[in-house]
Amino acid sequence: MAILKTSQRVVDVPDGNPLLDYAKELGVPFGCHAGMCGTCLVEVEEGFDNLAPYSLAEQEMGLQGKQRLCCQAKIEQGTVEIKF
Ligand code: FES
Repeated sequence: MAILKTSQRVVDVPDGNPLLDYAKELGVPFGCHAGMCGTCLVEVEEGFDNLAPYSLAEQEMGLQGKQRLCCQAKIEQGTVEIKF
């Protein structure tokens, strides 16, 4: 079981699962759910390497630094802390 958290809340995520539903529980806002609008963009504060590689949509968005799209990213293992 992996962990997705913010500085204020924590949710358990089964290894290999998309962040989407769990990020919603943490209050991340969503728009298109398709990697197009950027609404669900977050900064990864901890555990960036615990996420699966960028999706094609994330590559096309031109994310910088430790940014990810919560409608696209999957957690592989461990703990990931996000900020939005
Ligand atoms: S909800 Fe639009 S990019 Fe994720």
